[in-house]
Amino acid sequence: MSFKIKSNVYWVGKVDWELRKFHGNEYSTNRGSTYNSYLIKEEKIVLIDTVWKPFSKEFVENLSKEIDLSKIDYVITNHAESDHSGALPELMKKIPETPIYCTANGVKSIKGHYHKDWNFQVVKTGDTLDLGNGKQLIFVEMRMLHWPDSMACYLTKDNILFSNDAFGQHYANEFMYNDLVDQNELYAECIKYYANILTPFSAFVDKKIKEVLDLKIPIDIIATSHGVIWRDNPTQIVEKYLTWANDYQENQITILYDTMWDGTKRMAEAITKGIREIDKKVNVKLYNIAKTDKNDLITEIFKSRIILVGSPTIGGGILSSVAEILEMIKGMRFKNKKAASFGCYGWSGESIKVIKEHLEKSGFSVINDGIRALWNPDDESLEKCVEFGREIANTK
Ligand code: FEO
Repeated sequence: MSFKIKSNVYWVGKVDWELRKFHGNEYSTNRGSTYNSYLIKEEKIVLIDTVWKPFSKEFVENLSKEIDLSKIDYVITNHAESDHSGALPELMKKIPETPIYCTANGVKSIKGHYHKDWNFQVVKTGDTLDLGNGKQLIFVEMRMLHWPDSMACYLTKDNILFSNDAFGQHYANEFMYNDLVDQNELYAECIKYYANILTPFSAFVDKKIKEVLDLKIPIDIIATSHGVIWRDNPTQIVEKYLTWANDYQENQITILYDTMWDGTKRMAEAITKGIREIDKKVNVKLYNIAKTDKNDLITEIFKSRIILVGSPTIGGGILSSVAEILEMIKGMRFKNKKAASFGCYGWSGESIKVIKEHLEKSGFSVINDGIRALWNPDDESLEKCVEFGREIANTK
């Protein structure tokens, strides 16, 4: 499959409907993904990015039907992560001398992945490449969006921004344009992608977007490297990123817990009752961590102004599922969010302290010392949880 996007620009990537896990096991891709590669056929022929390694033979075979590979003048590698550079070894076997344009960090990353000394041409923000017919590619370094080597490039006259990972989503679809797909699905995948991949780099996102907007270049199309191509009001996703990058939160309290014999679960429900008594407008959501997709949990935390994390005490600590999500939370560097802990226990009861320490180290403003209940909570303990919920609801 290939198709024309505009003028002499073609999509030559791969739609991966089967993908269910990405970054090893770290990111669930319940709707698959796409690896978008682009071919520009002006007086000069340019290939922008490739696809993931398992599709490298298929990619090179399809590409050779689009263009005599020896006619490719330039390969642009916007980002070295192997979902985009994975077909380079297969491609460069056929065109070993063709220059690869990338950032200085890109050279390190590509060499680090493939240990090949290809014809690298280092570019930085503002550098240009003439393609003939009065068109140019302008390079923009996108450091930490989301790797040190990340880069975008802009095709003049056609006004296409090839943004690589930025503004993408893991969303397999055959329409390939933002206006043709289900808008709810698209939004869900965009915010999940931002929450899980870009949150730690929000300060860079905000600064870089403002820098690009200040250039006042017309953008007709944003051609990302995953999911849809933004052609209908393309800057809508840029505006979303600006919102998400600035300590985003909704009026949501998320209660995350795991439970052994339902004691901690019953505490979660009693806390919810207390919150609801005080505030009927706040969106309270409860998730059993062990039964929920961890990336969906990160997305819900991203949307929250307060999170409550619960675990019974086990072995002087917390359940492994809770430890896992706390470790993920730490890496996200969330800002401007409040938190508290809860959990039941049999004899030692350290869980609320352990969780509290994790949350503090992860940058949350911890509201109190948490609440714990001995054994299976009785009516009196549950009433204390309801009161705890009221206190949380009153926290502004
Ligand atoms: Fe889509 Fe950072 O790779």
